[in-house]
Amino acid sequence: MIHFLFFCCLPGVGLGLEVRQSPSELITKSGDNVQIFCNHNKTDYYVMLWYQRSPGDTAMKLIGYLYNSADTMESAYKDKFNISGNLGGSTAKNGSLTIKVKGSEEDAVYYCAARETH
Ligand SMILES: *[C@@H]1O[C@H](CO)[C@@H](O)[C@H](O)[C@H]1NC(C)=O
Ligand SMILES: *[C@@H]1O[C@H](CO)[C@@H](O)[C@H](O)[C@H]1NC(C)=O
Ligand SMILES: *[C@@H]1O[C@H](CO)[C@@H](O)[C@H](O)[C@H]1NC(C)=O
Repeated sequence: MIHFLFFCCLPGVGLGLEVRQSPSELITKSGDNVQIFCNHNKTDYYVMLWYQRSPGDTAMKLIGYLYNSADTMESAYKDKFNISGNLGGSTAKNGSLTIKVKGSEEDAVYYCAARETH
């Protein structure tokens, strides 16, 4: 079975911040592990949040977030998703989301967002 994953970008809350996600789309198979990256240059933003929006659903669901290098996962997403990166220090930020693609539940659009603190 083939799965389609799309990625897009949410700006930082309240700012015209450019957040870049790569790649922008992926076609995967069940059993694949995919890693997507999100980066921006807002050096004092220490939180990166990841969201999932499923087809036919208007709500964006929080998968989890990274604060410095500590991840907090929502329990519904713990088994199939990992968030990693190190947002500490005053450098450009680069975090990632790893998705273990099991079935069509992972066909979705994934968003990252950046925030100063939580
Ligand atoms: C961050 O800055 C670097 C160097 O100026 C630039 O190449 C890169 O495109 C910027 N990234 C974003 C997401 O704006
Ligand atoms: C983010 O990190 C990954 C691996 O750690 C690297 O391959 C990628 O080039 C980095 N992206 C940026 C914009 O620094
Ligand atoms: C996330 O990390 C845990 C522990 O390092 C690992 O057991 C799990 O397979 C990882 N999940 C994904 C989707 O990479």
